[in-house]
Amino acid sequence: MLKVIQLDKTYGSNKHSLKAVNFTAKPGEVTAIIGPSGAGKTTILRSINQLIRDDSGQILLDDTDIRQANKAELRKVRHHIGMIFQNYNLISPLTALENVLHGRLGAKSTVAGMLGLYSSAEKQEALQLLDEVGLKEYAYQRCDQLSGGQQQRVGIARALMQHPKMILCDEPIASLDPKSTTIVMDILRRLAKEKQLIILINLHQVDIAMAYTDHIVGINSGAIAFEGATNEVDDAVLQHIYRQPDQSTTVAANEN
Ligand SMILES: Nc1ncnc2c1ncn2[C@@H]1O[C@H](COP(=O)(O)OP(=O)(O)O)[C@@H](O)[C@H]1O
Ligand SMILES: [Mg+2]
Repeated sequence: MLKVIQLDKTYGSNKHSLKAVNFTAKPGEVTAIIGPSGAGKTTILRSINQLIRDDSGQILLDDTDIRQANKAELRKVRHHIGMIFQNYNLISPLTALENVLHGRLGAKSTVAGMLGLYSSAEKQEALQLLDEVGLKEYAYQRCDQLSGGQQQRVGIARALMQHPKMILCDEPIASLDPKSTTIVMDILRRLAKEKQLIILINLHQVDIAMAYTDHIVGINSGAIAFEGATNEVDDAVLQHIYRQPDQSTTVAANEN
């Protein structure tokens, strides 16, 4: 379970980007963070794996407070957090298989990693994961010859190669056509259930969040505007999440 508690982040001297953010994300569920552009969605994800250091609060992944981790501990925690990006972040001249194997880098010695030394068991696993995302026959294709949707599926297989507890996805479908979006979201939903992963996705497409997720965290101007089951989200909730900052009324944040 991921528990974010009273997370605050200020950029510079007075730009308050996250204000006492509280929410949870459970294994086996897809949780979406939705909200207007600039609300703080990316800042939350980057704080969770400490790509940016937040100012205060707690980020508990199971029993570990990620904020309190020293360098060695942080490396270990990060190894169990897969990342999926809008622009895929693959290494383009390499094949799909090689990119998936890169997911093992964090678990290897620097030398073995640099030399690209992977065991045959690791290669078997990478092929199996490519099969799980429907790309078995593309294993030996260069990534830059794959479609956007296929590249994102390679990104998912690479994240799985880390044996993650949690996968963080920042706008994973923003560059995809509707058909690829469906395929990618179906895969993420299936993986959450089958592998009991915590999947946390920043999305700006509300319809996709409504169709594919179990749990919704709504954020507006850095503050939680809603947290609850996806089937509790109605038009009034959406209007509250997407309100103009100056229209702020009572915030019905569900803190747990
Ligand atoms: N590196 C940065 N320095 C200063 N301000 C930033 C930085 N990154 C983001 N911000 C600000 O923090 C707020 C939240 O940004 P962000 O998390 O990217 O929002 P979202 O992902 O919801 O669009 C915005 O007002 C943005 O301008
Ligand atoms: Mg963002």
